[in-house]
Amino acid sequence: MTALRIDVVTIFPEWFDGPLRTSLLGRAAEDGTLELRVHDLREWAIDRHRSVDDAPYGGGAGMVMRADVWFAAAESVWNDLPPAATAGHSGPPKDAAFVAGGPRPRTVLLTPRGTPLTQPLAADLAAEDRLVLLCGRYEGIDERVHDAVATDEVSIGDYVLFGGEVAAAVVIEAVARLVPGVVGNAASTEHESFSSGLLEHPQYTRPPQLRDAGVPEVLTSGDHGAVDRWRHEQALELTRRRRPDLLAGDRDPAG
Ligand code: ADE
Repeated sequence: MTALRIDVVTIFPEWFDGPLRTSLLGRAAEDGTLELRVHDLREWAIDRHRSVDDAPYGGGAGMVMRADVWFAAAESVWNDLPPAATAGHSGPPKDAAFVAGGPRPRTVLLTPRGTPLTQPLAADLAAEDRLVLLCGRYEGIDERVHDAVATDEVSIGDYVLFGGEVAAAVVIEAVARLVPGVVGNAASTEHESFSSGLLEHPQYTRPPQLRDAGVPEVLTSGDHGAVDRWRHEQALELTRRRRPDLLAGDRDPAG
């Protein structure tokens, strides 16, 4: 059974072929745990050039993505209607369950001005049964899309990308691996960096000696209590050195 359906709307649908079809994500999509649908925003364009942007009111450089095209795309995707049912229409589709400005599935607009993506935010999104991700070009999207189409605005960090595609792939990967059935071993997502609020402790496997580097003795001692204590101390120390902000409570855990 599908645990989570993710729809992505982008002007570069082919960009997602690689990242979404490989490794654990690809397997989850294949076995149906995860359903990923990628839509080309231009399907909802209304002119023969299939344009999705226009010059900004008030003047200035760059182009702004059109709200009418985004409204039509979102209402079509939310309600599983074909592009022809919404493209170029002035109002929302008749009898639609989901409309812009009204009740709608969790719809995340990727933008550098959004809420920073954190592990708690990823977990919150993973609890949904549907997500819609909107990839804009960074120069700008008509503000009415921010207001009436998006339910969330998310940033993957304080830097600017050309567009939301890479950010959407990051959100998909962070969210998908928290969906039961996507990562085989549930414990492997529990003990890792960030879910405890600490960076993960160092790990070792065979061989026991590589050139001049050995393995900490405690790990081969068979003393599980000592191993747990060592791992916790290491995690604390690593976090103190590399990410003191995580310990100081600088970050809002609700993310
Ligand atoms: N689009 C452009 N830059 C972005 C960022 N840092 N996070 C999310 N979406 C973006």
